[in-house]
Amino acid sequence: MSSPPYAAIRGWGMAVPRRVVTNAELARQIDTSDEWIRSRTGISQRHVAGPDEFTSVLATAAGREALERAGVAKTAVDTVIVATCTPDRPFPATASTVQHNLGLPNAGAFDLAAACSGFVYGLSVGTGLVKSGMSRTLLLIAADVFTHLIDWQDRNTCVLFGDGAGAVVLQATTQPQGVLASNIGSWGEGETMMAVDVGGTRQPATPALLEQRRQYVYMHGREIFKHAVRGMCESAERAVADAGLNLAAIKLVVPHQANLRIIEAVAKRLALPMERFFVNLDRYGNTSAASVPIALYEAAQQGHLVAGDLVLLTAFGGGLTWGSCVVRWGSALPQ
Ligand code: UT7
Repeated sequence: MSSPPYAAIRGWGMAVPRRVVTNAELARQIDTSDEWIRSRTGISQRHVAGPDEFTSVLATAAGREALERAGVAKTAVDTVIVATCTPDRPFPATASTVQHNLGLPNAGAFDLAAACSGFVYGLSVGTGLVKSGMSRTLLLIAADVFTHLIDWQDRNTCVLFGDGAGAVVLQATTQPQGVLASNIGSWGEGETMMAVDVGGTRQPATPALLEQRRQYVYMHGREIFKHAVRGMCESAERAVADAGLNLAAIKLVVPHQANLRIIEAVAKRLALPMERFFVNLDRYGNTSAASVPIALYEAAQQGHLVAGDLVLLTAFGGGLTWGSCVVRWGSALPQ
């Protein structure tokens, strides 16, 4: 049988931790204010994982909802990808834990690390697997407990992030649905613009390094901001052109939810009105890889997307990494 040319998005799910931390709560602990956080980022609150809400727990919940919504048999799922930079363990892959939790006996499973661009990377790779014929029903989950990497004494980073997971089911179809065009990019020279230096093979954790709090993330926010706007705009324009479209055809842009000012700058540079951009970072903060699928989930659940709509997903993150996908929304017809 020849491989089907498209991978439709058939189901979607999300999960966030129970605990909500407001800006006011942070302002009682560190030298910051609700006014600063809202005006510089657009964030009002974020969900923060408790000890029993590690990455595979959130990923499993989001994956389960996506599978139920898609209505696919568990035996049909042949691939599980978990996009994360905060795995349960350094080894083995969190995707294997999720495959076990969900009871998917016929699925291969692997993790994908592309920081905040993880979902867009995963959607590009997952679509490629389906289009090649290697996979027919694929579960893509993007999940991060980024607060695990946060130094709660560092006001430059701790106000920005939250935890969560989002998932989609991709299924082979001959209908022109799912990703129509995509690209992924990286600029490794920027690896230390945002990083966790200690805890890997390059600099294993030692008591002295832990004492210096080097196991936590640091970030050069202003530089990242500029690269984010340029990276997302250039990759978005390329994806739209590669799909044979122009930006006017895009019904909704679902961007990475890092900072409202970044999204506004992208809108301005692409000459698109802000009403065309879906924004929910006020309630979740930056949930790293999970931010795009959580936003896509809410856009779908709130009725912003109907079958046939063209959606542009664009993201940017540590690495540096970036990527964009043009998606035609709609369920695959049974084959
Ligand atoms: O997911 C992808 C990766 N990350 C990003 O996308 C982040 C991209 N960058 C950003 O979103 C912004 O650069 C930030 C929100 C991180 C910072 O906003 P900014 O407008 O670039 O502020 P800044 O870094 O230039 O800092 C301005 C001031 C500084 O004080 P001085 O040096 O001007 O006196 C900071 O110390 O704001 C201070 N500041 C804070 N003040 C109150 C930094 N963090 C805080 C805080 N509360 N939480």
